Amino acid sequence: MLQVSTVPELRAALQRMPRPVGLVPTMGAVHEGHLSLVRQARADCATVVATIFVNPTQFGEAADLVRYPRPIEKDLALLEGEGVDLVFTPSVDEMYKPGFTTVVHLDGPALGFEGEARPGHFDGVATVVAKLLLQSLPDSAYFGRKDAQQVAVVRRLVIDLDIPVTIAVMPTVREHDGLAISSRNAALSEEQRLAAPAFFLALSAMRDRYRSGMQDAAKLEEGCRALLAREPLFEAVDYVAVVDEQTFAPWTGGGPCLLVAAVRMGDVRLIDNAVLD
Ligand code: PAJ
Repeated sequence: MLQVSTVPELRAALQRMPRPVGLVPTMGAVHEGHLSLVRQARADCATVVATIFVNPTQFGEAADLVRYPRPIEKDLALLEGEGVDLVFTPSVDEMYKPGFTTVVHLDGPALGFEGEARPGHFDGVATVVAKLLLQSLPDSAYFGRKDAQQVAVVRRLVIDLDIPVTIAVMPTVREHDGLAISSRNAALSEEQRLAAPAFFLALSAMRDRYRSGMQDAAKLEEGCRALLAREPLFEAVDYVAVVDEQTFAPWTGGGPCLLVAAVRMGDVRLIDNAVLD
């Protein structure tokens, strides 16, 4: 596995590697969720590129950015173990050169939910994803359904900016008890960790009700809130909504939809979703 840290090195290395190229963007702290993306890219593509970049522009509070885990040696070993060919680990200065001022801003799917809870977050995501795609010009780029709104933002972005890439979306990888794997889970106390799967269970119960014929968004949202309210360690429910998978507008029947939600346990904010199909 080759490791490069500048854009010219990345481009030069990719010129020597066979196509198709698959790109897996990450912020590191690699876990099974990330590795599922790498494995799919490995199965589909002759060359797999992973990126590790803790993108400062998508963090709201400076403290979160400072606290973000950076186990770089472990990450590199995990990526190498899955057969990644090239890993791109740019510095902040490499990605944001002096005088950097361009921002990729979306309305549409970036409005509401995570976009509202984390102002500026999707500007940061869209800008860095656009840069990573243009730097590496992959045939396919891989993203996790866990961050469903991010997927909708990235899909819109590549359409709007005519970036010639196929966006592949992989299912959420979960712990044995159903909790979606996330680097944030490590910040849960033992008690919170034991309670956390109630989030997934509430979403799954509503997906089952949807499948058995209850296809009314308001009722599904109400049912989900009622289940979440049973767990006292969910101190706040930021949102519960049935949305159109692509636009993140309220679902009005017809077309693929998602039940999306965010809950808070102490300082930790968990997000998850269920595909209603
Ligand atoms: P990060 O949180 O490191 O996630 C990298 C990719 O892994 C994202 O596409 C995310 O959706 C996916 N992922 C995370 N947890 C997952 C899980 N449990 N199952 C499946 N996929 C999972 O998302 C980002 O980084 C950044 O916003 C990034 C796109 C890299 C831009 O900075």
